[in-house]
Amino acid sequence: MNKEGNLSSSGLSETHVLSQELQSPEPRHHATVGRRSFIRGLGVVGATLLPASALLMRQAKAQERSSGRLTKGDADLLRFAAWAEIVESDLWTQYAELGGATKPNDGGPNIGNPAYKLALQNLDGDMPQYIIDNTDDELSHAAFLNAYLSSHGEEPVNLDRFRTLPGSIATGVDKTKIGKRLTNLLNLNVDLSWYTRYRSEENSDLGAIFKGPLNILNEPAIPLNDTDTPPGQPQPVPPATAAESRMQAIANTAGFHFAFIEQGGTSLYPTLALKATSEEVLRILLSIGGVEIDHFSLWHDKAGNAVSQPLAGVTDPETGLTFPDLNDPATLARLNLQLELTQTNKILPEPCDFLFRESMPPCSVIRPTSTALGGAVATVQAFTADGLFDGQPESFFDFAMRLAIAADNARREL
Ligand SMILES: [Fe+2]
Ligand SMILES: [Fe+2]
Repeated sequence: MNKEGNLSSSGLSETHVLSQELQSPEPRHHATVGRRSFIRGLGVVGATLLPASALLMRQAKAQERSSGRLTKGDADLLRFAAWAEIVESDLWTQYAELGGATKPNDGGPNIGNPAYKLALQNLDGDMPQYIIDNTDDELSHAAFLNAYLSSHGEEPVNLDRFRTLPGSIATGVDKTKIGKRLTNLLNLNVDLSWYTRYRSEENSDLGAIFKGPLNILNEPAIPLNDTDTPPGQPQPVPPATAAESRMQAIANTAGFHFAFIEQGGTSLYPTLALKATSEEVLRILLSIGGVEIDHFSLWHDKAGNAVSQPLAGVTDPETGLTFPDLNDPATLARLNLQLELTQTNKILPEPCDFLFRESMPPCSVIRPTSTALGGAVATVQAFTADGLFDGQPESFFDFAMRLAIAADNARREL
């Protein structure tokens, strides 16, 4: 029996409308008619069950939706997503200037910082292309979300007043942007608990606590200046000089930071989508969220190359941070780590506890997806702990938290 055969009559008409929407050159009209009659039907049934105030509220929401306006909750969800995408755009733009293949939107060749690019390419030859493509994605997400908010009469998000951080002065940066950065990539603490979390059969949403296989503390993810890391130096594997080791450690940190940022988006979007009221807003959140998952998976794979042979073992001479070989049994025994939680090519989510700890079989899922651990406030807190906003004034955090709390408080209204 096909899927439709299992549905009730009202469910069948919704499915039918949806399939028309996918096939028809004028889908919106059909979808709107179907939705309105569906809502009218609900109103008749609801009149016997609901108090008058609840009925009036439901009718007001229905009118809001049919007039093309967003509910407050949907606008709050999209506004926080826009905030996150503007933040991502700023940090990715810095990575792209120094380590990307071309300018955003496939402009002319980007010379960037040659030694940084070489060090990134020690993780994977395609890194510069992936960096520029990830940057393009974030810029497109931010622009689309703000345009969508504006087109629905909602206030978009603008963080330009906070573009005041110094940033790198190394060869490759856009000189016009020195002193105008929104995010700080010069001194990061990269939480690697996600690395263990996605290899574990336990789930943080069900109380499991993870710690990363190494601690990246106070480490730059981009070259600071040309004295610290000369831009014209070679980057052999393994690095031969202190400056080469320093640059490789910076590139390795970037590799892990890429995955840290994108696993944050991977968890954030499902938490937002669960609260969406409009089908279109749900579609936006699922469609952009899927790309965040794609980013995470890619960077998860590349980061593993910093901690496997032939590159593993690099030590930053400035900070003392070492990137150990996470596939080597002797190294793992010394660090008291288990191979099943560190093996570098295990990048696909291990099946884990999901929803219930004991009564259901393990399932390969994105995690966390609870508001408490993966929601908007949790995202702001994680990015803050990362050091990403070091140097920003109190008003930056106030604004971020206001948007985040509003998004976390949004509720699905059907
Ligand atoms: Fe994004
Ligand atoms: Fe992203």
